[in-house]
Amino acid sequence: MKVLLLCGGEGTRLRPFTHSIPKQLLPVVNKPILYHILEWVATRTSLREMVLVTGENQRIFQQTVGDGSNWGLTISYVYQPRPLGLAHAVLTAEAALGKDPFLMYLGDNLLEESLQEYLAVFEKKRLDCLLFLRKVPDPENYGIAEIEDDRVLRVMEKPEKPPSNLALSGLYLFSPAIFQSIRNISPSARGELEITDAIQNLLDRKKRVEYRLLTGWWLDTGSPNALLEANRRLLQKVTPVSLGRIINSQVGGGLHLEKESLIENSKINGPVYIGTGCLIKDSTIGPWVTVGDGGTVTGSTLKNSILFSGVRMENYALHQSIIGHRALLAGKHRSDQTAALPPQPFSRLLLGDDGVVS
Ligand code: TTP
Repeated sequence: MKVLLLCGGEGTRLRPFTHSIPKQLLPVVNKPILYHILEWVATRTSLREMVLVTGENQRIFQQTVGDGSNWGLTISYVYQPRPLGLAHAVLTAEAALGKDPFLMYLGDNLLEESLQEYLAVFEKKRLDCLLFLRKVPDPENYGIAEIEDDRVLRVMEKPEKPPSNLALSGLYLFSPAIFQSIRNISPSARGELEITDAIQNLLDRKKRVEYRLLTGWWLDTGSPNALLEANRRLLQKVTPVSLGRIINSQVGGGLHLEKESLIENSKINGPVYIGTGCLIKDSTIGPWVTVGDGGTVTGSTLKNSILFSGVRMENYALHQSIIGHRALLAGKHRSDQTAALPPQPFSRLLLGDDGVVS
């Protein structure tokens, strides 16, 4: 069995960041999302062969993860000329997948639990499709499955009147029967070949489709709020460690401080991750903050935010923000921080790579 990892798409919901970097390579807790996925495959499954679908930016993926050998995986690449839908991406990879069953994984998704036992069930029962469902509060925004006992009756994309609250997560197990089903369908109203339509076609052809409910967390990182949520989830798992220096500061709640970094005259409310070569001075950081490598934060307050690497931030108060690589935020220095002035109000910023606010 192979892994089919979909890393094409446009990533419009994550602009401006995706103007310069594909969303699967955006960092969460100082590491590209794709690294988290490769680690998951390498440690939580027995699968070792991966087919990675990309769009125009295939080179940047090749430069970042290469042939996968750093993770003990073998990665081959498939080019999807245009993002014409998930089912279209699957069809593009048909020759690379051959006659093997495969685990399809959306490259902007993260999940916690191991699916190893389900891989075995899928192979043993010789299924054509195994869906992973989870309960959501807003089913009208997802691909939804209608079930009866252990059977899947219907699947549909973003229904106006959802028949259940069981959403399809970004993982699917397929046999090669899916290719014929994709050939049988037509583009949807939004012009894409939808994977839900292809799965419905499997059901119409009386193929063996089953489901399992996911119990651990699962995240789609495709929007700014989702990226911040992924940051919070992964910060919970970070082991507190202090490889840098802390001078005249208060630290509570879990801090991961990388080497060559200095925290001075500041307050840290963990969970907080501070990368290599950072300076944090006269600031209050956390909770839920990642400061990427080489960041400088002075005279600032930062909560629930991600700074990519190389950010310089002076005299700002930010929350729920994502700041791109090497961006500069130069606020006004307030000489009297304590008495006369009211606390600086928080701003929310989504600032792309090399952005400047002053
Ligand atoms: P989506 O998040 O559904 O689509 P998108 O990447 O175009 O994002 P947006 O809606 O913000 O514009 O894609 C889910 C995953 O599948 C993601 O990793 C990109 C990938 N994908 C492909 O590989 N090919 C495609 O044709 C599409 C639509 C998505």
